[in-house]
Amino acid sequence: MAIKTKIICFANNKGGSGKSTTCSSVGYAMAQAGKKVLLVDCDGQMNLTLSCFGEAEALELSGGEQNLSAAVRRHLPAEAVTAKTPYEGLWMIPASPALSRIEEELTGAAERAFVLRDFLSGIKEAGVYHYILIDAPPTLGLWVMNIMCASDRLVIPVEASPWGLFGLANMLEFYAKAKAEAAGLKLLGIVVTKADERKKYFHQTVDTLRDLPDVHLFSTVIHSDSRVEWAQENSQPVIAYAKNSRAAKEYIQLTKEIMKYAGR
Ligand SMILES: Nc1ncnc2c1ncn2[C@@H]1O[C@H](COP(=O)(O)OP(=O)(O)O)[C@@H](O)[C@H]1O
Ligand SMILES: [Mg+2]
Repeated sequence: MAIKTKIICFANNKGGSGKSTTCSSVGYAMAQAGKKVLLVDCDGQMNLTLSCFGEAEALELSGGEQNLSAAVRRHLPAEAVTAKTPYEGLWMIPASPALSRIEEELTGAAERAFVLRDFLSGIKEAGVYHYILIDAPPTLGLWVMNIMCASDRLVIPVEASPWGLFGLANMLEFYAKAKAEAAGLKLLGIVVTKADERKKYFHQTVDTLRDLPDVHLFSTVIHSDSRVEWAQENSQPVIAYAKNSRAAKEYIQLTKEIMKYAGR
């Protein structure tokens, strides 16, 4: 029986909120749970690509034709630019620095908010993957509108820092705009990242998020953990790098929550 693919994007216009880390960790945990997962790196900074591939390999992928911007520009099918990661059950459509120009390239396109949705539609309908996870850049423009319009679900990682909530109102407004374009899109929830309970602002952040009307707050909180950065240096998702670390265990827990709610 064909799989019903769910597309989930991780977005927040604030940089450093944990989008790429959450995307790679959740993807890895889903794959470990026996799911087939495709990661799509939509950020020209290539952090998601680099979370699974070493620098040399990532540069090779981004320099050639096997990456997202080349595929969108040349109307290649998603399958043609999908790379197998070193991990069972986990595939990747890599990014390239050329993605930084995608915004201007899209302005002239027909149905310009749906270019990414159309690019992914074949692979979604083929029912090959249980989940397609999209990592978004820290912007709120036409490209992120494309990302949201291509997605069934949105997860917003929010950093538990004094500035973590900065811009969240814009983000939620943007989500409402995207939902008006693509009715199938649903905000799955907000996840708090880089938490440190000793800090006053951690509690302030959680209290503020809890009070948001109609927004689900995931009960799993991702704590600040240096193993996340070490894993990154090693070009590995944190669960692959240090499976007993606090962040790894929390990401496995968060993934269970996401899989439970994503189907609804
Ligand atoms: N739980 C965590 N503990 C410690 N550092 C983290 C954690 N999550 C992310 N980081 C670090 O914070 C930085 C930003 O994270 P990243 O996932 O790249 O955010 P974004 O994609 O939103 O810009 C990275 O250097 C990453 O290693
Ligand atoms: Mg990122």
